[in-house]
Amino acid sequence: MKDKQIEKLIKLEQKRQKNVINLIASENYVSKDILKTLGSQLTNKYAEGYSKLRYYGGNKFVDKIENLCQKRALKLFKLSSKKWHVNVQPLSGSPANLAVYLALVPFSHSQGKSRGKIMGMSLSHGGHLTHGSKVSVSGKFWKRISYGVNKKTELLDYQEIKKIALKNKPHLIIAGFTAYSRKIDFKKFREIADSCGAYFMADMAHLAGLIAGGAFPSPFKYADVVTTTTHKTLRGPRSGLIFCRKELASKIDKSVFPGLQGGPHLNQIAASAVALKEAMSPLFKKYTQQIIKNSRILAEELKKLGWRIISKGTDNHLVLVDTWMNGKGIGGKEASEKLEKENIIVNKNTIPFDTRSPIDPSGIRLGTAAETTNGLKEKDFIKIAKKIDNILRK
Ligand SMILES: Cc1ncc(COP(=O)(O)O)c(C=O)c1O
Repeated sequence: MKDKQIEKLIKLEQKRQKNVINLIASENYVSKDILKTLGSQLTNKYAEGYSKLRYYGGNKFVDKIENLCQKRALKLFKLSSKKWHVNVQPLSGSPANLAVYLALVPFSHSQGKSRGKIMGMSLSHGGHLTHGSKVSVSGKFWKRISYGVNKKTELLDYQEIKKIALKNKPHLIIAGFTAYSRKIDFKKFREIADSCGAYFMADMAHLAGLIAGGAFPSPFKYADVVTTTTHKTLRGPRSGLIFCRKELASKIDKSVFPGLQGGPHLNQIAASAVALKEAMSPLFKKYTQQIIKNSRILAEELKKLGWRIISKGTDNHLVLVDTWMNGKGIGGKEASEKLEKENIIVNKNTIPFDTRSPIDPSGIRLGTAAETTNGLKEKDFIKIAKKIDNILRK
């Protein structure tokens, strides 16, 4: 590379990635094929619009790439192209979610029209910023209705969610979280959405790989729309996908382009196609099962060592740990900093009903997807739990 400054920094980052235990729940390590595709000449191409309906010339091959990506996305999640459509152009998870709201939820104009309502889990209980948080455009353009987990069980409380939905009549209800580790009853969410006439959207950003591998229940039977990132458990490039029922396809497509974005990033789309193919392999299925075995043992071991695990365990790739334990332990910020000094990378995280601030919350979030890609198994995660315990108690 001619740019030695950037080359050096890339090398240092490569080295960092090799030398740490990466427990960031939203990260993963992609294959060489995906890296190669991301760095290919596809990055040079502009192709505003959709296959056969572009605003630029020279799309002979990129049309094929986008079509193939769509075909693979539907195939991976066992969806019929008669019933489902997929838009593969969202640049990432946040724009994918925004595009859905833009398509399906009315928003205010200055003439005082009431804003459409989005109902999602509150940020502090494990929802995502784009599920209506007031600091995100999703909470500025639309009115947020929040639900949380039950204080005692720290699990989703479907009766309570239904009560909130019936009282507030949202236009769209979201299931899908950044820091919730248990099973999601998508059927119940469908029933709740039906009871108040709302669309039901599943945001499977964290879970997409697990769902593809059959290691976590699929939302497709119940949802109107499913959004996802491609770079977490799905182990692809940074990108986003929107699956929707066929009758919503035109609205969703128009919302992505020209509603929200310009030219699609074709190198990302091609790399997503590669990741979707990789995820169809029996090896990937095994990988997703191992992710969950690893997170379960990590949760169990930490519990044995005296740490409080939110909701007492996990059904997916992530483990939410209460490190503060009402003042008996240490805060999440201090915990994550101590771990980083010893090359264990995690993120500080609020826990449900947190009494501390998001900048220095009561917990940390751990994920097993990245290190499972590196080949780690249960015995390794027992060692990791012990290491974490040692470091936090120093
Ligand atoms: C549930 C969920 N949805 C959406 C997103 C947004 O994805 P991105 O960071 O790619 O915009 C995330 C990212 O963490 C997420 O966890």
